Amino acid sequence: METLLALLGALLGAAGGASAAGPQISTTPEVTSGSNVLISCNVTEASTEIKGHYWMKGETKLLSNESAPDFTSYLIPKVDYETSGEYHCIFDTTPLLRGTVYVKVKPHVVAYKKSEHGNEGDTGVLTCKSNSYPSVTQWNWFKIVDGVPQPVVNGTEDRFFIKSGGNRTDLRITSLNLEKDPGEYMCNGTNELGEGSAVVGLRVRSRLAALWPFLGIVAEVLVLVTIIFIYEKRRQPNQVPDDDDGGSAPLKSNAANYKDKNVRQRNAN
Ligand SMILES: *[C@@H]1O[C@H](CO)[C@@H](O)[C@H](O)[C@H]1NC(C)=O
Ligand SMILES: *[C@@H]1O[C@H](CO)[C@@H](O)[C@H](O)[C@H]1NC(C)=O
Ligand SMILES: *[C@@H]1O[C@H](CO)[C@@H](O)[C@H](O)[C@H]1NC(C)=O
Ligand SMILES: *[C@@H]1O[C@H](CO)[C@@H](O)[C@H](O)[C@H]1NC(C)=O
Ligand SMILES: *[C@@H]1O[C@H](CO)[C@@H](O)[C@H](O)[C@H]1NC(C)=O
Repeated sequence: METLLALLGALLGAAGGASAAGPQISTTPEVTSGSNVLISCNVTEASTEIKGHYWMKGETKLLSNESAPDFTSYLIPKVDYETSGEYHCIFDTTPLLRGTVYVKVKPHVVAYKKSEHGNEGDTGVLTCKSNSYPSVTQWNWFKIVDGVPQPVVNGTEDRFFIKSGGNRTDLRITSLNLEKDPGEYMCNGTNELGEGSAVVGLRVRSRLAALWPFLGIVAEVLVLVTIIFIYEKRRQPNQVPDDDDGGSAPLKSNAANYKDKNVRQRNAN
């Protein structure tokens, strides 16, 4: 009985100690939607003088406009993927006091590139990212077949591999197949608030198709060479006598200048 009382006393003492253990910050609850949402923090029982306060979101300092030293608020114009994140209110005391308000939205998923293409036999990589808070806890990939998403399972055919992190997922397809692989793929990211998805198109070119531009250039060069060859062949017999006649006066003077220049250069050397 005595031990029990002692224990109770110790517990009460600890609880009392905690509540008396200096400054407490209270914040508004987490935010998941709305416009013109005012989030705020206040501090009670600050042990030292509060010299000021401000808000931080990541590395960005946000300005608050409150006049009371122990209360600060920040206005979020619209809750969306851009304003989602962790907002820290900081009171300038020694040591600094900090509270956090979480602004959470469902994943805002975007395709890194809306369409990817690869050559038959090569490896193709489709990438989706989420740029909202909180990060994605589960990523899924689907192939859209006749408008219906069919799950793409990691490791299928030893060709489909999925690598996922909190902000990003990659679907890697090795040995691209000209018949089976082209089409639309959907990535789907889920967090505690819901899901978001994006679609990536994949095009596969045949090995031969990759050669076409090269063959085109070769054909072009061949045609040009043939034309020049035929032209030269037909021109020469007619124009040789013309040149013997001496040509026009300006041409002659040009030739003379050219000769002069050559002589001068040679002399200089
Ligand atoms: C400050 O926090 C206390 C305790 O949570 C609360 O009762 C009070 O309304 C808050 N004041 C302001 C101005 O938010
Ligand atoms: C802070 O600024 C917002 C808008 O900029 C305004 O609505 C609000 O009244 C201001 N608060 C104070 C205490 O000045
Ligand atoms: C897919 O499988 C590979 C191993 O084959 C593994 O490294 C990777 O983590 C898996 N990805 C997912 C999302 O489970
Ligand atoms: C997601 O990106 C943010 C910055 O955009 C970064 O702070 C965070 O650590 C990333 N999360 C993961 C799980 O990589
Ligand atoms: C996305 O994945 C979640 C499970 O993580 C699932 O409940 C949801 O139906 C999927 N969305 C689509 C469009 O397939």
